[in-house]
Amino acid sequence: MNLKAIAIVAVLVAGGVIISFNLQPSLSQPGDGEPMVAVNLPQFSVLEKAGEELYNASCAACHGVDVAGQEGIAPSLIDAIYQPKFHADGAFYIAVQNGVRAHHYGFGSMPAIEGVKSEDVATIIAYIRAIQRENGIE
Ligand code: HEC
Repeated sequence: MNLKAIAIVAVLVAGGVIISFNLQPSLSQPGDGEPMVAVNLPQFSVLEKAGEELYNASCAACHGVDVAGQEGIAPSLIDAIYQPKFHADGAFYIAVQNGVRAHHYGFGSMPAIEGVKSEDVATIIAYIRAIQRENGIE
């Protein structure tokens, strides 16, 4: 390798390091994935327990364990704006079937969730509403 080639390689490597350092902060922030709210859990009925399992399989990766949300990923649904008056059950069916274009937050959009049947959504709603009630959101 002559000197010019070494210089070019050095510039490319340095450039790569600088670019990856610059990209890091916009891709993930310290605290990402942390729960967004403290959630009180009720005694779940059998139906609500089944809803928890479905929720954990299809929703928790974004909305977090116990629906607490995850910083930088997706909101907690245990929040006054998701009370039935503002987001009736219909909003949940539509969200799962069609996805949600980001409109309340800057998390980005929610994709349609494949393979969750309408009766599963009903069971997931029972679970989420039970936690909402326990936290004074109704
Ligand atoms: C890939 C991540 C992701 C998954 C998986 C996900 N969501 Fe979401 N969801 C989001 C984000 C992000 C938003 C917030 C969009 C906004 O308003 O800015 C959202 C919003 C919602 C809303 C509010 C809809 C509205 O009308 O404002 C509901 C209800 C919801 N999700 C339910 C669910 C349920 C139920 C599941 C599981 C079946 C689920 N989500 C799975 C990311 C996700």
